Amino acid sequence: MPDIQDSLDRIAADMAGRMDRGEVAHYIPELARVDPARFGIAVALPDDRVLSAGDSTLPFSIQSISKVFTLSIALGRLGDQLWSRVGREPSGQAFNSILQLEHEKGRPRNPFINAGAIAVTDAILAGHQPKELLGEILRFVRAAAGDDDIHINHAVARSETATGHRNLALASFMKSYGNLINPPELTLGAYFHQCAIEMSCQQLARAGLYLTSAAGTPRMLGPDRVRRINAIMMTCGHYDASGDFAFRVGLPGKSGVGGGILCIVPGKASVAVWSPGLNKQGNSQLGTEAIERLASDMGWSVFGASHTANPD
Ligand code: DON
Repeated sequence: MPDIQDSLDRIAADMAGRMDRGEVAHYIPELARVDPARFGIAVALPDDRVLSAGDSTLPFSIQSISKVFTLSIALGRLGDQLWSRVGREPSGQAFNSILQLEHEKGRPRNPFINAGAIAVTDAILAGHQPKELLGEILRFVRAAAGDDDIHINHAVARSETATGHRNLALASFMKSYGNLINPPELTLGAYFHQCAIEMSCQQLARAGLYLTSAAGTPRMLGPDRVRRINAIMMTCGHYDASGDFAFRVGLPGKSGVGGGILCIVPGKASVAVWSPGLNKQGNSQLGTEAIERLASDMGWSVFGASHTANPD
């Protein structure tokens, strides 16, 4: 088994020379300005070490990766009641699909597609002002990462507020079925701001350590909930590419349209990668490849170690 740092260095060097980097997210104008040549990767270990390569200290927009943290807060606060509002099945549809939501009468398939994440944010917003909830989300993420220097990029939040008509449609749709407590604009205000949290790969990898359940990592949630969040990351974390990610990587992961991926090696490590170019399902193109390489190098998979560098 190669050394983690050697593997990260080789992956970062290889990714630096790649031309086929995917497309940055254009539907959020502020994200369309991000340099597609950026690449960072970091591995946080339960013994407090963080190994990294490339642009691993530059903050990027975590976007949908924030859904893992809001799901954690929601399960901690509401427990299994949450499942009356949102399912836990893979959607097989695009992250912002409207089709399935109508078919299933306003109850989103899972907490990671946009409709499901909006329902989760709505559930934990109930009775609070968006500012209070955002303070709670930031406190959660900062405590998980052991780092107070984590903030919301308000320009990104404003940019999505101005253009997020599709999310407004999803939220209004749920409201029409009685599956939204707050006014759609209020819930979306909180949702767009949680998506606009910025973290570096090093910070994000550290923030994911609680999901490894390894001894010595922060205990943000009971072990049963952590296990279940990992299951949903595995089955739903990459939307209609979740099956492919499980096939190629074999680890629970969550992507965001900022180009980040958080990936959990249960009991062992938390990995964050960032490359802003996306594939057609809206997941980081080189980020997925990088994690596939790292997992294969290290023999990391919940399905058993792989012994060939190129299993295909
Ligand atoms: O709601 C949206 O469309 C974005 N704020 C987040 C979507 C996202 O990150 C999808 N992930 N790959």
